[in-house]
Amino acid sequence: MRKLAASRLRWQEMEVAAGRVGFGSGISKTEVVGIAANRTKKKVPSPEARLPPCGVPWRRYLHCSKLQVHVEKQKLIKYIKDTQKRMDDRVARTLKFLQSPEGTITLKFTFQELMEKPMSIGDAHAKCLKMLKDDYPVQEQSCLVQTSDKVTLFVYTSWHLEKGKAVEDSISQTVLNRFEANMRHMFDTGKTIPTAAERERHPNDSAKFMEYRDHLGKVHLAMKSIQHWFEMWQEEGWAHREEIPSRDLLCGGDYEEFWEKTKCMLADDEITYPMRGLLKSLFPEQYQRMDKSFKRITWAARHVPLPRLPPGPFAGRVTLNNLQTVLHKDSLDELCVVFNTGKYIGGEFLSPDTGIKFKYAPGHTAAFLSQYLWHAVAPWKPATMEPEDLFPPGRISRVYTTHRRTIKKMLLDNYKTKLDKRYTLDKNIKDRRIKINYPRRHWSKEIAEAKKGKKVKKSA
Ligand SMILES: [Fe+2]
Repeated sequence: MRKLAASRLRWQEMEVAAGRVGFGSGISKTEVVGIAANRTKKKVPSPEARLPPCGVPWRRYLHCSKLQVHVEKQKLIKYIKDTQKRMDDRVARTLKFLQSPEGTITLKFTFQELMEKPMSIGDAHAKCLKMLKDDYPVQEQSCLVQTSDKVTLFVYTSWHLEKGKAVEDSISQTVLNRFEANMRHMFDTGKTIPTAAERERHPNDSAKFMEYRDHLGKVHLAMKSIQHWFEMWQEEGWAHREEIPSRDLLCGGDYEEFWEKTKCMLADDEITYPMRGLLKSLFPEQYQRMDKSFKRITWAARHVPLPRLPPGPFAGRVTLNNLQTVLHKDSLDELCVVFNTGKYIGGEFLSPDTGIKFKYAPGHTAAFLSQYLWHAVAPWKPATMEPEDLFPPGRISRVYTTHRRTIKKMLLDNYKTKLDKRYTLDKNIKDRRIKINYPRRHWSKEIAEAKKGKKVKKSA
């Protein structure tokens, strides 16, 4: 509880420092249209007053009808081959710039020094307050951030200059639109932010809604939510248990929902593929570990019957819908890759350890060692919705990661025996029903034991 209060206090100070008070808490005391009357009801309908035509683009993209797959298969394979070549070229061009002197930022400390004298949360917070000032320089161009002994900490891609011309290294608008359409389809389930831990990470967001205005000045509500889609992880608070798929992925055993969600989640290969290329060259050690463990972990993708770009190396995708993010480190992660999309004001990426404030506009990506580096997203608010907008305003962000302890187990020679037998890969789905032997039914007993004073090992 004290942790939550401290986190909220730091967030309020950040809002004041940035001159963005109330950015995360909405527009108060104004006339709200649509579902305002439903606010107190338990079952929440989707508040999107004007849904984008998301069904059409994602179906077209995924070619999900059987007939279409059959007819278009050759075309699709050719498209994938062409895309792969185009992306390989783009990655090579980005890499060339990042590894050149103008694309590399070298810090004054060594990696050893960062490990031995890590910044305290108080110092990191004080640094963030300084970085939030308008006159603090913003890093807009792609860059590679290294320590003085050449250890890569950060890879940021946005755009770079080549012979006086701007070259895009970020995710293209078309790919972002597809991603957003898929995510809006997925989030249309009415699921809100469930746990106290998430409310600590995303302050002011215990409210279920984000408010935004349209061009006529009317206020609308949009859901705030989070999805943890992990093919394999160790559930928070149950560190003594074996690795299992996340609950958000299993969809309560509903095959149809699992399949729809899996298609939406895995239609991001045009985002992960170039990122894979960058990680392979710039974080080789972490990439090898993640990729090897990914090959042992992955099972959900086998249920999407379409040729895609080579997948991996992430076992997990966390998707944040309209949430603010406080200063934190991710002690569980090997490394993180993040990007966002939407229409909003603010939302720069703050890295107090390196002293860099990244612009972090939609489509910009950051790959970094999130277990060692403090990071936060500056307060942001939704922009006004204009009639020509494809989607309602707001911010959807995505984090790709694999947990270190999952990697550790998956890299063991006897990794199969380390997996919970009930979740042995293909056996998860049988006869169009997900076989759920989720340990939920044992929980009441374990919680009761924990209450009696028996120790239940908590995860970090
Ligand atoms: Fe993080």
